[in-house]
Parts: sequence; structure tokens; C-alpha cells
Amino acid sequence: LTIYAASGYRSYSTQAAIFDRKIKNTGSREKAQRLVAPPGASEHQLGLAMDLKATPTSNLSASFAKTKQGQWVAENAHRFGFIIRYKEEWTDITGYAYEPWHIRYVGTEHSLAMQQSGQCLEEYLGEVQQ
Ligand code: DAL
Ligand code: ZN
Repeated sequence: LTIYAASGYRSYSTQAAIFDRKIKNTGSREKAQRLVAPPGASEHQLGLAMDLKATPTSNLSASFAKTKQGQWVAENAHRFGFIIRYKEEWTDITGYAYEPWHIRYVGTEHSLAMQQSGQCLEEYLGEVQQ
């Protein structure tokens, strides 16, 4: 399978431009904030996140989860230290809409533990901090 990297590291100004465009397209800051992190708050600015596509021309959409690549990522990302950061069942906890294409590096110690427990990063970090 070939998996395409659509968006990796973003600077503050790039994230700000993406966020502003989303506000214009959705009509509200509140709606935009479910889809795009405000500048200063994106994992892409840490350089730890990557958005994936199944073909060079596809848009980032939930349909990535149904592709062979999306299924492979869902089943195997944790083996390489990555997590799918914004799963459908976690939207109330993460504050972000479902993004099967957005993976974040946490290292295998944590990705394997999170896979085992079924926890999202917020839940996992809450426990680790205790
Ligand atoms: N789309 C994700 C939440 C980001 O902007 O970092
Ligand atoms: Zn992303």
C-alpha cells in the first residue's frame, strides 16, 4: 500500500491561515474550532502529527477510514508509536470532529498502552499524571 503524507509540520502562521479560512467557510469560530485547532494549539505545530491520504488527489475526509490504507493505519499505527488522535467515539472528550487521517507520534511505550486500554490521549494523560 502507498500512503501519502498530506500535511505534517505547520508553522504558527500556516495554522493561523488554515484556522481563519475555516472560520470563513463555516461561518463561525465555534464551528471552525471543532475542525481545526486555533494557532498555538495544533499538534501539527509540534511536528508530531501527520495527515494521511490514500491517493495524492483525495481530500481529507472520513472516507479515508474505509480505504485499504485507512484500515491499515487503524490496525497498525500503534505498532510504530502512532495513535489515531481524533476517533469518532472520542469527539466529546477531544473537542474535535472525527479525523481518521490524523496520526500523532507518542512512541511505542504509550501507543501500545493506549491501544490496550482503548483510551484517547486525554484519558491516558489524566491517568499517567495521577
Ligand atoms: N485538524 C487538527 C485538529 C488540527 O488542526 O490540528
Ligand atoms: Zn491533522
